[in-house]
Amino acid sequence: MSPPDADARTLARAFLEQTLSAEGNALMLEHATREEVIRGLASARRPVRAHAAGPPDRGPDPAATGPEIVTGPQIAEAPDLETLAALVASCTRCTLHESRKNPVFGEGAADARVVCVGEAPGAREDETGRPFVGRAGGLLDRLLLSIGLPRKSVYICNVLKSRPPRNRDPLPEEVAACSPYLLRQLALIEPEVIIAFGAFAARTLLETKSALGRLRGTVHRYSGYPVVATYHPAALLRNPGWIRPTWEDLQIVRRMLDGVGDRGARND
Ligand code: URA
Repeated sequence: MSPPDADARTLARAFLEQTLSAEGNALMLEHATREEVIRGLASARRPVRAHAAGPPDRGPDPAATGPEIVTGPQIAEAPDLETLAALVASCTRCTLHESRKNPVFGEGAADARVVCVGEAPGAREDETGRPFVGRAGGLLDRLLLSIGLPRKSVYICNVLKSRPPRNRDPLPEEVAACSPYLLRQLALIEPEVIIAFGAFAARTLLETKSALGRLRGTVHRYSGYPVVATYHPAALLRNPGWIRPTWEDLQIVRRMLDGVGDRGARND
């Protein structure tokens, strides 16, 4: 079934009204099953716009059509980073798109050997749409340089692509909504090693509640990729005593890139 838009919307409205009036329990449309309604909505065509002169085409009015939710398969099948970034830009999979100024997709070499993963954009990143550009970002650049990696040679991104309001901790549902983007970024880049900066990125990637102190100093795995976890540059600004262990963690990365096996490698 592929009804024109109006039919799809009528069916969807009937479906929602009936579901509401039955307190979410019933799905008994006379002319369509639940699956047909969903399929009809998915295949409903957007209005065709004439190419005649006039105001610039700003795309469909979200208030008129409702935002389209980016789906997991769309993310998993994005053929390149540009396509994936466009999906992030239009993403409404969680509510952070309502408060963010800019999405922060990530940046760097598409064939980077190293991907750096932080927690989430902060105020400066939200302003600019670029990851790690505040004070912590400056320190990150210097840390990377200390192992011979100019910022441009790596890829830098975050678990979340949108800033949580007032930099609050990301919520589980936000991580769940955003993780497919990170997974696809990694699959497209195929790094030799991932550096998880900070407890949040490390715990999210490694699916553990362990303290960062227990996770650092060794090599883990995320979705088949080696992961080295270390302190977040923002934490280093507050705790300069952690710079030394961070440098040691980065030496693990350097040895991996140099093809010198790391004796601390763990296969979890
Ligand atoms: N902190 C992060 O985790 N990511 C950024 O991009 C900036 C600060």
